[in-house]
Amino acid sequence: LGTVGAAGAAGLALGAASGAGVYAAAAGPSADGTALTSVGSTEAMFHGKHQAGITTPLQARGHLLAFDLAPGAGRKEATALLRRWSATARALMAGKPADGGQDTGIALDAGPSSLTVTFGFGHSFFGRTGLTARRPTELDALPAFSADALDPKRSNGDLWIQIGSDDALVAFHALRALQKDAGDAARVRWQMNGFNRSPGATARPMTARNLMGQVDGTGNPKPSEPDFDRRIFVPDGASGPQAWMAGGSYAVVRRIRMLLDDWEKLPLEKQERVIGRRKSDGAPLTGGSETTELDLNKMGPDGKLVIPDNAHARISAPEQNGGAAMLRRPFSFHDGIAPDGTPDAGLLFICWQADPLKGFVPVQRKLDRGDALSPFLRHEASGLFAVPGGPAEGEYVGQRLLE
Ligand code: HEM
Repeated sequence: LGTVGAAGAAGLALGAASGAGVYAAAAGPSADGTALTSVGSTEAMFHGKHQAGITTPLQARGHLLAFDLAPGAGRKEATALLRRWSATARALMAGKPADGGQDTGIALDAGPSSLTVTFGFGHSFFGRTGLTARRPTELDALPAFSADALDPKRSNGDLWIQIGSDDALVAFHALRALQKDAGDAARVRWQMNGFNRSPGATARPMTARNLMGQVDGTGNPKPSEPDFDRRIFVPDGASGPQAWMAGGSYAVVRRIRMLLDDWEKLPLEKQERVIGRRKSDGAPLTGGSETTELDLNKMGPDGKLVIPDNAHARISAPEQNGGAAMLRRPFSFHDGIAPDGTPDAGLLFICWQADPLKGFVPVQRKLDRGDALSPFLRHEASGLFAVPGGPAEGEYVGQRLLE
C-alpha cells in the first residue's frame, strides 16, 4: 500500500479535482522538529475566498456542532465569539496550540492533519442579534418532507461548526478548544461525530464508500467544471440581504439513519438496482467504469429499463431535476445500538450549494416521493446554515455580516 501520505495529499473524491490551493505543505516537522508524514503535515488554509472544509478532500474524522447564543447574548457577544473562534481556528489549522496558554495538549506531537473548521449561521441567529434585515431568504426553513422523522433538539441552531481532520485527536482537540471559547456566550445545542476512510487505506485515491458499502460521491460536481462556482458558491456581486455572503455557500445537514439490518438482507443484485450502480466499483448498471455517464434510456433484454425508474442515481441526477446540483461532502456515523437493537448508524449528509432551492430541496422532494433507497433511510435531524466566504488576512469569519 505504499506511503500513508500519497493518497492523503491527493485526496479522495474531491481532492483530485480541487487542487486550488486548498492545501499547503506536504511534509514538515512536528513541534519537536522530527519529520511528520504528509497526513500529519497537510495544512488547509484558513484565509481565502471560501472557507476550508467545502472543497477540501473528505477527512477521516468529523464533528458537527450547533450552538445557541446564551440568554441575553446578542450581536456584541456574537461578534466577540466569532473573533475568538477565528483566532483559534487559524492557530489550530496551522498546527499551533490554541491561544492563551490554555491549550489542552491533546494534539501535541501531531501536525495540522488537514484540520478544517468551518463556521455557519442558522436562521435563528439573525433575530437574536438584531440582524434580520440581513437574513438571506435562502435561509428560510426547508419544507417538510413526508419521510421526515426530525428531532428538533438535534436540528438547526444559531451557529454551526463543522470540524474535519485526518486525525481523531486533532479533531477532538479542536472541538474542545472551540467549545471552551464559547464561554458564557453560547451553549452547545447538539453535537454529531462522524468518520470517513483514512487516507492511505486504499492503494490509490478512490471515492469513499458509505456504511451501505456503496461508492458514494461519484456524481458530485467537480471544481474543474465551468459552472462549479456558480452552483456551489454565492457570487461576488451578490446584493441585497445576502451581500455579505459573497464567496459563501449554504450547507444542508441531515442526520440520515440507515436501516442497515434491512439493507443487508437485500441480495447484491437488488442492492445495485436500488442505486443504479454496481457495488464493486460504482459503475453504472448500463456499463463502463465509475466515471461513465448513466445511460438512463437503455433497455435490458427483458424490455425494462436497466437503471430502474426509481433508482436513487436516476432520480437524483441533475438532468432529471432541471440542473439542480449540490456538492455532497458527508461523514458516516455510528453511535452504538439503538434501544430497538438496531445499529444507530448512517450518514451525516452535508451538501453545499449557492441556493438550497436549486440544490437540496428539489432533489429531496423527488426522492421523498419514493426512490428505491428511501425505505432503508430515516431522516432524523436537519439543519440549514449560511456559511460565509473565507476571511481575508486580518479578518474574522462573518466579519462582513457582524460589522
Ligand atoms: C448519488 C447514496 C442521500 C443526492 C448517490 C449515489 C449513492 C448515493 C451510492 C451514487 C454515487 C454518486 O454519484 O455519488 C446515498 C445514500 C444516502 C443518500 C446512502 C442517504 C443515506 C441523498 C440525499 C440527496 C442525495 C438526501 C439529496 C437530496 C444525490 C445526488 C447524487 C446521488 C445529487 C448524484 C446523482 C448524479 O449526479 O447522477 N447517492 N444518497 N442523496 N445522491 Fe445520494
